[in-house]
Amino acid sequence: MSILVTGANGQLGTILTEALRSKHGSHKVIASDIIRPKGHQTDPFVMLDILNVQRIGEIIADYNVKQIYHMAAILSANGEWNPQKTWNVNLNGLLSILEIARLTEVEKVFFPSTIAVFGPSTPKEMTPQEVPMIPTTVYGMSKVAGELWCNYYHKRYELDVRSLRFPGIIGYDSMPGGGTTDYAVEIFHEALEHGAYTCFLEGQTSLPMMYMPDAIRAIMILMDSDTKNIRIRSGYNIAGMSITPSQLAAEITKHLPHFEITYHSDFRQKIAESWPSSIDDRQAKEDWGWQPQYDLSTMTEDMIQQLAKFKE
Ligand code: SER
Repeated sequence: MSILVTGANGQLGTILTEALRSKHGSHKVIASDIIRPKGHQTDPFVMLDILNVQRIGEIIADYNVKQIYHMAAILSANGEWNPQKTWNVNLNGLLSILEIARLTEVEKVFFPSTIAVFGPSTPKEMTPQEVPMIPTTVYGMSKVAGELWCNYYHKRYELDVRSLRFPGIIGYDSMPGGGTTDYAVEIFHEALEHGAYTCFLEGQTSLPMMYMPDAIRAIMILMDSDTKNIRIRSGYNIAGMSITPSQLAAEITKHLPHFEITYHSDFRQKIAESWPSSIDDRQAKEDWGWQPQYDLSTMTEDMIQQLAKFKE
């Protein structure tokens, strides 16, 4: 049996593939993406355009795939440049995965959802699990619809599909591509390389974030949990920390005293303002024991230490 990761060259996909390979053995985890890996991923790697339904089916049959981590998607900011394509890739890509999983021997599917499912009419502080979801980005729309389809495939066909609503992910080993929370990764690289960063969000914009090791651990715990504990089949709220660019800059300054931040917000500010600033993840804690390990201070310290090693 093997495991397929789509979008394996992305920010989360890269690290998730490594983690799955350490756990199950490299040869058992098939990395796939629309672009070739830039050195990070090793074999087995297959080229896969998620809109190529026939190719998905061939890969699942050829490698006897039993689990799929469907990470391929276009993120919130990039998605706004081409709404039709974003909907097509994000929603139709997922539908193909769910349908092939139902018709074959695939036993489990993981679908990453996001805080982008929420919108301006959602309560901003400690956003509950069940609230109005009227997002303003096409990325958010595709993820709300995706969550509903996951729930449908579980209820109607008993497909074991599990999902998490990720906040912005901060990590040192892979770069985000086209999201609204990307500033929280860029800031570290610029701080170490140039001692300064111009942030595309305003200083007081509070958003939920999570350190990469917590994000990977959350996926692993969720996917290993007994199915009877998984009471939500749309997407679980999960939280790590809630931070503003100015709080993050102040924390970085504790390690790099000469670091300077300036602000020059762009269209992403509006997207950020439509999202919650903190998340209530009680249900994930109750159902499968979720607990984050990193806060702003421990995350910042580790990020700087790890990135400094690369730059030596
Ligand atoms: N990090 C993502 C984005 O900014 C949110 O899911 O698009």
